[in-house]
Amino acid sequence: MSKVVVTGKIPSGALTRLRAEHDVLAWEDSTPISREELLKRVRGADAIVSLLTEKIDDELLAAAGVQLGSVSNVAVGYNNIDVPACKARSVLVTNTPGVLTEATADIAMSLILMVTRRLAEGERVIRAQQPWQWGMFYMLGSSIQGRQLGIVGMGQIGVAVARRARAFGMTIAYTKRTPLDAATHKELDAKHVELDELLATSDVVSLHCPYSPETHHFMNATQLAKMKSSAYLVNTARGPVVDEAALADALQRNVIAGAGLDVFEKEPVVHEGLLGLDNAVLIPHLGSATVETRAAMADLAATNALAILNGKTAPNLVG
Ligand code: GLV
Repeated sequence: MSKVVVTGKIPSGALTRLRAEHDVLAWEDSTPISREELLKRVRGADAIVSLLTEKIDDELLAAAGVQLGSVSNVAVGYNNIDVPACKARSVLVTNTPGVLTEATADIAMSLILMVTRRLAEGERVIRAQQPWQWGMFYMLGSSIQGRQLGIVGMGQIGVAVARRARAFGMTIAYTKRTPLDAATHKELDAKHVELDELLATSDVVSLHCPYSPETHHFMNATQLAKMKSSAYLVNTARGPVVDEAALADALQRNVIAGAGLDVFEKEPVVHEGLLGLDNAVLIPHLGSATVETRAAMADLAATNALAILNGKTAPNLVG
């Protein structure tokens, strides 16, 4: 039996599978584990199943010890893990692609609709019991029919968002190192463009790139200024891909029309400049937050961890 440390509360099905084969030490509280407690618990672990709220860095790997063989993240994004440090210590890293594609695309599409149609703003009026009245000019939004969605980072989630947007009558432009395969390109009738063209011509820009040092503050004041003043920015990727202070400033000065954000630079803290803005839709990192998706993510992380513990190739190795 190997020692498996699970750093946060995960759905019971995955935990049961891990427990059937190994000695599992799982944090079962809904609040994140403290760093101090985590450093204590990982000592002697052969495998770690991690959540994106836990930083897996060299200090933690050293605390675990040389027997540690793998870190399986219960997320598709793995910027919480120092992959080069894992590599240097021969620790394999896995993530959970695929199983959260549709749920995350649903949230991106929801944000597009919420921000263009001012849904959160309208809801706030009713909840605050402010006076309102149907009127020809009351709380008008912007139609998305016939408008261009620009997708930055056309991976699995980007494609799933594009499919939804097509059903709402949008046209698609995208950036990607290599163009889409011919069949998907044709299905989406999509334009493969350079970033500057995408920013200058899109009515909604949706971010789907991974977070890394290269994409830190990728959407900064300069890039935001390239967008149309009538355009909207949507971020369901990772918070620090956007310079939040620059975005708050751009929204305040109407450099762009609005933003829909599921992720933030310093979660759970949200830049205070955004909090009072009606043209910012702010939701608390709900991309993959369905019962079904979270169960599938935890299950895939367990599959990855168990494969490595059993000397097999894990399906979702990264790095
Ligand atoms: C969620 O944000 C994920 O990366 O899976």
